[in-house]
Amino acid sequence: MADNHWTTVGEDAWDERYPFIAQIERRLLPELHIKSEQPHDPIAVYRVPVPWRLMGAGNYAAVVAHPDFPEVVVKVYAPGRPGLEEEAEVYRRLGRHPAYSECLYYGDGYLMLRRLNGITLYDCIRKGIPISRQVIDDIDEALAYAVSKGLRPHDVHGKNVMMRDGRGVVVDVSDFLKPEPCGMWDDLKKAYDRFYLPPLRCVPVPGFVLNAVRKGYRLLKR
Ligand SMILES: Nc1ncnc2c1ncn2[C@@H]1O[C@H](COP(=O)(O)OP(=O)(O)O)[C@@H](O)[C@H]1O
Ligand SMILES: [Mg+2]
Repeated sequence: MADNHWTTVGEDAWDERYPFIAQIERRLLPELHIKSEQPHDPIAVYRVPVPWRLMGAGNYAAVVAHPDFPEVVVKVYAPGRPGLEEEAEVYRRLGRHPAYSECLYYGDGYLMLRRLNGITLYDCIRKGIPISRQVIDDIDEALAYAVSKGLRPHDVHGKNVMMRDGRGVVVDVSDFLKPEPCGMWDDLKKAYDRFYLPPLRCVPVPGFVLNAVRKGYRLLKR
């Protein structure tokens, strides 16, 4: 456990970190089986040890929570997926902001993050839960804040943003140090204003349709 792995933690640091680190390193990491099969698809999760619960999986990592430590989640990078230290650095630059999580600690292959209780906008659309314009405006404001900290928002799509108590939060900042510009959020906003009409907002959209839209979008952008 090296000191330089502590990140944004301040005076009011979360006291239960030490037992939690032990749980992560002794119980979670040896038993968690995850694999990156295709670089542009979410990683495959084969086994999550009891009592950990899978919160979600992205293209780099699986995010899990432990019932005894409800305030935090652990983001475990799949073997061979780079970017963990960059993500910790992004959180260091962001500091505290209501629309972002925080990195409390990072170790070999994982980050300990403050848990954001919410539902991804992707899941809102899948389940027919309406997303208000306020959520979009909050995310816009959060991204402008990131820019003010010298970061470049990247890969901001439906699985990387959440709605919590009717407000928008950004759940994944892993690519915010990448230099190249990314128009994904602007495209998503345009789609929101053009196609996400109030009468349609309660209609659930099956996951396979959303996956086809994601793949179509990737092809279009190539
Ligand atoms: N701090 C968090 N609190 C709660 N759930 C989270 C948190 N971070 C990530 N998740 C969940 O895990 C999923 C994958 O995390 P993400 O950071 O997007 O991984 P990746 O960098 O691999 O794309 C997210 O879509 C979200 O559902
Ligand atoms: Mg993600």
